[in-house]
Amino acid sequence: MANITERQVLDALRNVIEPDLGRDIVSLNMVKNIRIDGENVAFTVVLTTPACPLKDLIKNACVNAIRHFIKEVKDVSVEMTANVTTANPMANQAGNALAKVKNLVAVGSGKGGVGKSTVAANLAVALAQLGAKVGLIDADIYGPSIPTMFGLKNEKPAVMGKTLIPIERFGVKMISIGFLVDAKTAVVWRGPMISSALRQFMSDVVWNDLDYLIFDLPPGTGDIQLTLTQSVPLTGAVVVTTPQDVALADVIKAVAMFETVKVPILGVIENMSYYLLPDGTKEYIFGEGGGARLAAEYNLPFLGEIPLAKEVRQGGDEGLPIVVRNPESEHAKLFMRAAEKLAQQIAIRNAGALSQKVEIEL
Ligand SMILES: Nc1ncnc2c1ncn2[C@@H]1O[C@H](COP(=O)(O)OP(=O)(O)OP(=O)(O)O)[C@@H](O)[C@H]1O
Ligand SMILES: [Mg+2]
Repeated sequence: MANITERQVLDALRNVIEPDLGRDIVSLNMVKNIRIDGENVAFTVVLTTPACPLKDLIKNACVNAIRHFIKEVKDVSVEMTANVTTANPMANQAGNALAKVKNLVAVGSGKGGVGKSTVAANLAVALAQLGAKVGLIDADIYGPSIPTMFGLKNEKPAVMGKTLIPIERFGVKMISIGFLVDAKTAVVWRGPMISSALRQFMSDVVWNDLDYLIFDLPPGTGDIQLTLTQSVPLTGAVVVTTPQDVALADVIKAVAMFETVKVPILGVIENMSYYLLPDGTKEYIFGEGGGARLAAEYNLPFLGEIPLAKEVRQGGDEGLPIVVRNPESEHAKLFMRAAEKLAQQIAIRNAGALSQKVEIEL
């Protein structure tokens, strides 16, 4: 009768490399809870995000490694779970409302109307659907669109003492100035009032544990963007563009702004890239591949192309982001893939930041 040891299991799994992090899963401390029962082996692999696009690949590699290196094994059972990583310097800071928020991500653009809010809403819901704890801050004080996009126009958040409880919809906790004052009131606010409203969204809202807190920024590279980027430790930013040359030129401005304030760009996403014809062909009205080329030129991750589609616009107007309204549609799947790529970039960033920290401490 074979006598498989935990050591054998670990040694076999040292051959499984986490492709994004470039190290084996044992030294990355991702293997937990090894159980050996005669010829049967079971263990848990803890990924860096539930939205990991390599989940199946890693699982298969684990099974293959065990079978290859431990000949006597019969059953291999791998449970895949996730514990989202963080490099947030505010993590666990007493009295800080963002202390339990693992990653803060801004969605911005150089130009208005390119679909930031649509992208922010769909990425947030997609991450929640993939199993993450997600929050969304509508940082567009003059033109909040999150209440409309989630069908929450007449909702008011509950107040608890001096704090606000975010409204939850489709698994995402969210706050918007649109929940608090009517559109006309905010329009007459001055810069400092806007900054303080935004600060309150971070300090006086009960966020609790979140894996990802997404900020839907107003267009451009002005004061609000600067306040935000300077007052919170953003993990990074997603820059949204459309394929027209002018929009691409504006992206360069947005990238430069984030670079000036030392916020890493987690990815570029091209929205309204093409029109999907009823027969399935893609009509690239403004030319193909502009966003991807720009990303490559600036050495930025490319999160994908989202087509121009009536259903996406309808979803926004009806309060049902496309990933909820029609999850099986091509558009929804593209948003899901973009969300996975974003989560992947965050995990890569965090691994880099954490290993740097260890080096400094050593
Ligand atoms: N892929 C898409 N297909 C069709 N319509 C879209 C798509 N993306 C966004 N839209 C629509 O375009 C309009 C602008 O989108 P959205 O409000 O998301 O842009 P924005 O960049 O946040 O704008 P602002 O700069 O005003 O904040 C909305 O009506 C939205 O529904
Ligand atoms: Mg917007």
